[in-house]
Amino acid sequence: MNTIEAIRTRRNIKAFKPDAIARETIVSWLEAASFAPNHRMTEPWEVRFVGPETRAKLNHKTDFGAAPVVLLLTSKGGATPIEREENLMASACFAQNFLLAAHSEGAGTFWSSLAASPRSREILGVPEGDDVVGIFGVGYPEEEPPAKERTPIAQKISDLA
Ligand SMILES: Cc1cc2nc3c(=O)[nH]c(=O)nc-3n(C[C@H](O)[C@H](O)[C@H](O)COP(=O)(O)O)c2cc1C
Repeated sequence: MNTIEAIRTRRNIKAFKPDAIARETIVSWLEAASFAPNHRMTEPWEVRFVGPETRAKLNHKTDFGAAPVVLLLTSKGGATPIEREENLMASACFAQNFLLAAHSEGAGTFWSSLAASPRSREILGVPEGDDVVGIFGVGYPEEEPPAKERTPIAQKISDLA
């Protein structure tokens, strides 16, 4: 699968097969994701594998689509507001890299923002000043939803003098 095809065919997966997914496979996608652009090489992303006890406490409404693995992705804060913002942008690039790496090898991912709530942050032990990028179900898709239509890109493009 080439990059454009991976970008176009990735979906937010809401239901997973029970099949296990090897931790080292996931780590290989995280390693690939770490080639994301990041200003001054801050490499601000941090990943936690969320274990069953913590996952149960989160009480997600579909339990992340029954994904066999759940990952928390956070982004280190910065010494200045700009550094923090740039770190978050870099971590979002890391996230997309990870989603595409997983998809290109036949897996699927479910991005949830549940972890950003104060209650979830506390359960997950996210340090104050760090940003939650998302919490992700990872596994093999039970179903692949159709693509959601996008606004024609021409409507998002303009020219400056
Ligand atoms: C920052 C962020 C937070 C998201 N949070 C959720 C969420 O809480 N629940 C959910 O179902 N999808 C969530 N999504 C996934 C989007 O809903 C999904 O990407 C969008 O509907 C487009 O679908 P697609 O990814 O299959 O193209 C989130 C995506 C982003 C970037």
